[in-house]
Amino acid sequence: MEIIASAPGKTILFGEHAVVYGEPAIAGAVNKRATIKLKESDKGVSIFKSDDLGFEAELNTRTKKYTLKKGRPGIINYILEILSKFHDHSPIEIDLSLDIPIGSGLGSSAAVTVATLAALFKYQKKEFNRSLLAKKAHEIESSVQGIASPLDTRVSTYGGLIYLSRDKKIAKFNTNLKSSFVIGYTSKRGNTGRMVKSVKALKTKYPDIVNPIIEAMGQITEEAKLAIVNKEEYKIGALMNINQGLLDSLGVNTNELSRMVYLARKAGATGSKITGAGGGGSIIACCPNTQDRVFKAINYHDHAIKVNFSKEGVFVK
Ligand code: MEV
Repeated sequence: MEIIASAPGKTILFGEHAVVYGEPAIAGAVNKRATIKLKESDKGVSIFKSDDLGFEAELNTRTKKYTLKKGRPGIINYILEILSKFHDHSPIEIDLSLDIPIGSGLGSSAAVTVATLAALFKYQKKEFNRSLLAKKAHEIESSVQGIASPLDTRVSTYGGLIYLSRDKKIAKFNTNLKSSFVIGYTSKRGNTGRMVKSVKALKTKYPDIVNPIIEAMGQITEEAKLAIVNKEEYKIGALMNINQGLLDSLGVNTNELSRMVYLARKAGATGSKITGAGGGGSIIACCPNTQDRVFKAINYHDHAIKVNFSKEGVFVK
């Protein structure tokens, strides 16, 4: 029996960094996914492979070690962690298809983790629901990374656009925002822990200046919530631009991110900003009728990917 499970990547639209200090945030699942095919292995050993990423490895699920047959599997620690925690070590074969670029800030590790857990639980005929999946996936991300935002695994499990309120309650948007977005990223990855610490240091040094900036970011997210419900793409873009200025003032911008932000606007994006922690990483641009142009402009120097928000969370069959 072969199980197929799939989970989406995500992006943060508003509220990164401010959310650390209790301000609201908006994030959403995108139409780029990780898909896992899982079946019993007839080779007497567990195998993890991906044609998309060009690797194959034999796994020792007891020792969490692996032997490479081909390529370099960046994502393998998540699979080993899942199998060592939740599997009985009988040989299985896991095949990953991924249309979320690794390092693009689109939460590839969360999507792979959620899809793998869903496939494994179904294979084991275990009773599970989305709430359990989101919880277990967050535990796996936390043990592999040391620190992980529950937002990534949550969005990847449930799909859709979500609003995280000040008291950490999650509400799903009841809107079908059809807008097109472009994600831009370079090969320079950001370090979330370091960026969160540097914002904290700035806040401690200049509280009277930085606190109102963080509050203003929260206010932007509140305005954006209304703009999203009313599908006001120009307003969403304008709010993204203001948010970008504030993120820059917190020191999380880089030359590369700035270049992509301005290229996107020049190519017709209604707005563009850093998405995620910054200091490397990625930007997001709102491009209602200009997705191709913005994609080409960014992809000339850096990497770009076209995305739309998607209601579809994890599924398994
Ligand atoms: C990183 O993707 C988002 C931050 O707000 C950190 C976090 O919320 O965990 C910078």
